Amino acid sequence: METQLWHPLSRDEDLDAAPIALTLLGHALVLWRDASGQPVLMRDQCPHRGARLSLGRVRHGHIECPYHGWRFDAGGACVGIPAVPAFRPPASHSACTHPVVECHGLLWGALEPPTTEPPKLPGMPARRLVYGPFDVATSAPRVVENFLDTAHFAFVHEGWLGETGHAEVPDYTVTHTADGRPVIEDYRAWQPRATASATSGGWVRYRYEVLGPYGAVLGKQPDDGSPGDAYTLWATPLDDEHCRVWMGQYTADTTSTDTELRDFQLAIFAQDKPILESQQPRRLPVSGGEVHCAADRLSAAYRRYLQRVGVRCGIC
Ligand code: FES
Ligand code: FE
Repeated sequence: METQLWHPLSRDEDLDAAPIALTLLGHALVLWRDASGQPVLMRDQCPHRGARLSLGRVRHGHIECPYHGWRFDAGGACVGIPAVPAFRPPASHSACTHPVVECHGLLWGALEPPTTEPPKLPGMPARRLVYGPFDVATSAPRVVENFLDTAHFAFVHEGWLGETGHAEVPDYTVTHTADGRPVIEDYRAWQPRATASATSGGWVRYRYEVLGPYGAVLGKQPDDGSPGDAYTLWATPLDDEHCRVWMGQYTADTTSTDTELRDFQLAIFAQDKPILESQQPRRLPVSGGEVHCAADRLSAAYRRYLQRVGVRCGIC
């Protein structure tokens, strides 16, 4: 199932002509740009003798294998074999290509032709910053579930997103989109320092939406009427127990600098990371093996959703 999903592979702005080696669902891939600037995603294995194409270079809009210099175009066709210049390589000499598309400031790839578009976002504030990659030694679903979990705010993010004097999780209702993705329309939390520009504590209204098996979005609206923020989290499954995280921040804050906004989000994520990497097992147990409390209703709904859509990577 997940081989037909779109997964973020790079920030759009981070890819120039030089090939990037990456991993998706246990497969080695190479990402590069052709002469027209279009991203190209290929299996990172030359069809000739199996060398990594990502060790090669892009010249005249073609990727050149580092071993014998075979050249491949954006469609994967072999367009030149230096050792046999007069030979016109047939289709059997092609490199294997995969779908790739730009969306939300990221380049998304899929191992097999996807059945849907990359996830759509609800209405978001206009200013967008995209953070990543952040490699985390745990499964992608563990990271998404943590993003949906509010009961850890008072402990992991004490003094920032919560404090132990306000540890109780208020009652909330989980609903579902028409296609079965869990949503919380209204969740209230008291936060000592909810955003980069916050100078005091206050009540914040959250809205959570699971965007897909490996992604979610939350909106934050302070009660004092100050500008709201929205955040996306995407966890790209490298394999069952490792993932690469990307975050999008969408804000109406026009005064904080990009660096201030980024530093705040990275500080929050740095608090989460050691906890995430400590969780055992790394795969998310969706069919028993961990106990729950009433505050975990969204996590439980997310686990049921993963089971329903038939995800396999990163769960147990
Ligand atoms: Fe790539 Fe020979 S292995 S050209
Ligand atoms: Fe957290």
